[in-house]
Amino acid sequence: MSHNDQVLSYPLHYDTALEPPKEWEQLRGQCPVATIELPSGDRATLLTRHEHIKTLLADARFARPTAADNAARVAPAGSGGVAATGDSSLAIPDKGEPHQRWRRLVGKYFTAKRMAALRPSMTATTERLIDEMVQQGAPADLKAGVGFPLPVYVICDMLGVPADDRHRFSRWSDMMLSVTRYSQEETHASMGEFVQYMSGHIATKRANQASDLIGMLIKESEGEGEGMSDAELLTTAMGLLVAGHETTANMIGKMVAMLLADRARWERLLADLSLVRAAVEESLRFDVNHGFGLRRFLTEDAEVGGQVLPAGTTVLCGMSAANRDESAFDQADQMDLGRAPNAHLAFGAGPHSCLGQALARTEMQVVLETLLRKLPTLELAVPAEDLQRMEGLLVGGLREVPVRW
Ligand code: HEM
Repeated sequence: MSHNDQVLSYPLHYDTALEPPKEWEQLRGQCPVATIELPSGDRATLLTRHEHIKTLLADARFARPTAADNAARVAPAGSGGVAATGDSSLAIPDKGEPHQRWRRLVGKYFTAKRMAALRPSMTATTERLIDEMVQQGAPADLKAGVGFPLPVYVICDMLGVPADDRHRFSRWSDMMLSVTRYSQEETHASMGEFVQYMSGHIATKRANQASDLIGMLIKESEGEGEGMSDAELLTTAMGLLVAGHETTANMIGKMVAMLLADRARWERLLADLSLVRAAVEESLRFDVNHGFGLRRFLTEDAEVGGQVLPAGTTVLCGMSAANRDESAFDQADQMDLGRAPNAHLAFGAGPHSCLGQALARTEMQVVLETLLRKLPTLELAVPAEDLQRMEGLLVGGLREVPVRW
């Protein structure tokens, strides 16, 4: 397989949900800069080596595509919404100084201290969700019972949204993301409700000094001269919901599925709970369903792996393939729950690397600790080979994670 003689149809085929596509090894070894055809019919360049992707994500010539760029589209025109453009831009500033200012301000919230402070309430919420799942009886879908609600509840806490309104956020987030399941009218209507709710919420926060993220942004941004406008606060809230909900929900489901797919993994954790942090990192690395890949658009000619890519090229970074690269990880195809160091790329790299990674890590650690403690006999209710991948375009995940205990 060489970049000149073959155009790969993308996304690649998976025989089973937890095993990598056969092509990855060959691509990394022989064709690390490959030409692919997307479902839209547009062509792009797929990268699969850890070293290439890490370097590229830090290189300003490879920018996140904006609507003005004529970047390759993921899905055919008319499919609507985020999934069609493949645009991971989250309605938050994307480039240059406005992006840096935004990151500086919002990043102030995601400190280790604050994440540690969120742990007790996160643990209590997780315990409650597990109790409700147990009450309904086995088998249960762990993704629906725990994975999906927890991250949205956590984002609500962060934004200072009262517990009674969480279910509305859950629904809005679902509607904004699941562009294939709802009509455009439904998605627009739910977006309108969200905007209306958040506008009222922001006005209240402006009137009363609050210690949540919105309150902090109002206060901090005033120190920067022009404070954050209501519109910016609104897009920030929406951006965090979009960036932090489905990603984390899916990752919780995938982590539990991977750890239960081989009983020895679960037993090892039960015997040594101090492995939880490393096991979370290894789950992030070992995941083969990271999604479509991070999209970048080349604004001038640039070289990758000895090959010159012309300006105007759309590049897809295959993060999961890079996370299985033997030249970056010993025995990359083994899930090693004690692996250290673990320089995986699940949260991206460079100027756009995941802003919420400390939060996502904390959520995953809390879920894993709480499951090990409350449900040590947890097991998959179907053979691992029967787990189904979700056919979503951007955020990769499993349709369900059926479990019993
Ligand atoms: C396991 C869960 C998560 C995964 C795998 C993940 C992954 C990623 C990746 C790969 C990027 C880089 C996108 C790019 O370079 O184009 C990113 C960006 C981002 N993530 Fe996450 N994420 C997760 C959870 C979260 C959470 C919980 C939040 C916040 C509530 C969050 C907020 C963000 C934001 C705001 C960005 C954009 C940063 C920027 O453009 O400067 N993420 N995430």
